Amino acid sequence: MFGTFNEDASSLDEYLGGFQFYLDLYLKQGPNGSEVHGPPDHWITETDWKIAAENFAGDGYHTPVAHQFGFNLGYFPSSGATHSQGWAASITGKGHGIGLGHTPGFTPFAGFPDDLTEEIKKSLTPDQVEVFSNARTAVGTVFPNLSFLMQPFSLIPGETGVRFVTMRLYHPIGPGKCEMYSWCLVPKDASDEYKEAAYQAYTLTFAQAGTFEQDDLENWLESLAWQSHRPQRTSSSRTSWEWKLSATKTSAAPAT
Ligand SMILES: [Fe+2]
Repeated sequence: MFGTFNEDASSLDEYLGGFQFYLDLYLKQGPNGSEVHGPPDHWITETDWKIAAENFAGDGYHTPVAHQFGFNLGYFPSSGATHSQGWAASITGKGHGIGLGHTPGFTPFAGFPDDLTEEIKKSLTPDQVEVFSNARTAVGTVFPNLSFLMQPFSLIPGETGVRFVTMRLYHPIGPGKCEMYSWCLVPKDASDEYKEAAYQAYTLTFAQAGTFEQDDLENWLESLAWQSHRPQRTSSSRTSWEWKLSATKTSAAPAT
């Protein structure tokens, strides 16, 4: 649900500027669309909302590094070498962006419920079917602070697994402090069994205590800690690693 108190605001369609085309991958999972499954996750972190928003808008390249354990354990139906292949799209002048990961040979729409795949295709336009057929992963941000991620996740290594979706909102509550909300979206027409499997995959990965969420948060915290201690450029500058050590020591020091 979107709303505004600004009577002069543009319509949602105008604001999205065509980005709805991509949002349908998350929100139109079948004839009756998508629904929230399980309670929302809600937590507060000491990072900047812009880091998280940017991470989802166009930082697909971090995955094989920050989440390498996921490949080693077989959670991803792609390899570290192919995971960053695909396409990126952004809406000029609007700030919305999405990355679509593509694994050559990956079965189109794999990970969706088998009995629902054809219905999902019918809910989409031919252009969307063509684009989404090639999308293993979709991770994007609606400017400024709403992000989505869809990813097949193998609860049993080697299998395609199920597609989970996290829809998340970053709510800045002060300098370096951010309130996070995350919801798990599932196809409304899917079986209870599929919804639970998708929710389990979501919980293990990108819910509040999800393993991948913790990977990302560690980087976001480190980025902010380093940024806040970034020195002015001088002729006798120290290396970034030295400044990182300095930042870590400072943030760990007891309050006085
Ligand atoms: Fe990540």
